[in-house]
Amino acid sequence: MEIIRAKTAGFCFGVRRAVETVYKQLEKNGGENTGIYTFGPIIHNEEVVKDMEKKGVRVLRTEEELKQLEKGTVIIRSHGVAEQVYREMEANGLEIIDATCPFVKKIHNIVKKESGEGKHIVIIGNPDHPEVEGIRGWAGADVTVVQTPEEAEKFSAGEGKKVCIVSQTTFNYNKFKELVEILSKKSYDVSVLNTICNATKERQTEARSIAEEVDAMIVIGDKHSSNTQKLFEICQNACKDTYYIQTLDDLDLNQLGSVETVGITAGASTPNNIIEEVQNNVRIIF
Ligand code: F3S
Repeated sequence: MEIIRAKTAGFCFGVRRAVETVYKQLEKNGGENTGIYTFGPIIHNEEVVKDMEKKGVRVLRTEEELKQLEKGTVIIRSHGVAEQVYREMEANGLEIIDATCPFVKKIHNIVKKESGEGKHIVIIGNPDHPEVEGIRGWAGADVTVVQTPEEAEKFSAGEGKKVCIVSQTTFNYNKFKELVEILSKKSYDVSVLNTICNATKERQTEARSIAEEVDAMIVIGDKHSSNTQKLFEICQNACKDTYYIQTLDDLDLNQLGSVETVGITAGASTPNNIIEEVQNNVRIIF
């Protein structure tokens, strides 16, 4: 049997950097009472978060919890946070380790600058996603999140206002283009900054082309990870024998009995050791 593993399977640059930041911090301050916190789970992967918790990392789930913290080191995850969250942490005397992905940080800087120049900021993305909440928190009062064509149609920036459009890093490029077209027709002075990150697109393109070639496809990732769900959909459209698993335990190797080629890919928050374990076991069986 031949196994084709996607080169882009697993962590993107920003997630790898954030996860490594936590482990580096644990090396420095390991032990019973590490005083290390992450603001939100560092990635959407239960295995990794549990492992970190076992080693003494605590996850702060709300801003309230953060406000109540009086001592410790808080690691900001790759999604980034609003400017005001930094201020709150500073006011509490907490040590901040910033693992915001540099591509997200770039959006914060753009939004702050353009907003400072009086522009109305439009963020194209999902308003409930933590990355978008974070970006929003770098703009002034004039900020709108647009996710659907209907919302774009309804948008109004106010008389004579200049508009600056940015995007959530993981937003779909075609949808982004469609929304920008609607917004641009509104005859505002509009500047558009395509801030979509290519990591997701590259992973999806590679997954599709592998799935088209193989007899069976395995997609590894947390059930709650939206980018893994999307990857699964893409692979399933190209290869009807596609399996969505979180870890090796979910894979019934008998199902792969008669296939000759198997493709493997994984979502952005799937650690390498989980991918390798699946790959090695599929290889051993056949
Ligand atoms: Fe950063 Fe792109 Fe990953 S924005 S966190 S490298 S998907």
